[in-house]
Amino acid sequence: MSSVLVLNGPNLNLLGQRQPEVYGSTTLADIEASCTAHASKLGLEISFVQSNHEGALIDAIHAAKGTHAALVINAGAYTHTSIALMDAVASVELPMVEVHLSNIHARQAFRHVSYLSKVAIGQICGFGPRGYLMALDALADRLVPS
Ligand code: DQA
Repeated sequence: MSSVLVLNGPNLNLLGQRQPEVYGSTTLADIEASCTAHASKLGLEISFVQSNHEGALIDAIHAAKGTHAALVINAGAYTHTSIALMDAVASVELPMVEVHLSNIHARQAFRHVSYLSKVAIGQICGFGPRGYLMALDALADRLVPS
């Protein structure tokens, strides 16, 4: 069975408490539980990593090679700044879907740039927690034999 790694970056551990008017009231634990249930329906294995540290996220991406078949990444603010994370994804050559809870294109101009989108299959943003499930659907189309 194909395995997907869902990686969440800085401040996403605070979901549920953090700016609920922007990010909603769902916690990261809730999102991970709904991803686990959805992945099982789709026939995917799933694992999760959250870190507030850029290097730890890069290490997790490197470790995914040979262990996971694809990545779902919400890199938080590193999306808009980290060439290193972009390079890490390019280096492991795993298909990756970029997710954001909020519609980054409707927010401040500095959020309109995503280095990660340059190495993503596609970007899903603005649909809240459902975006993670949409990313799994997109990856299942590629990974799960019909
Ligand atoms: C975010 C959007 C980013 O701009 C922000 O820095 C985050 C969360 C989102 O999920 O909407 O931390 O990635």
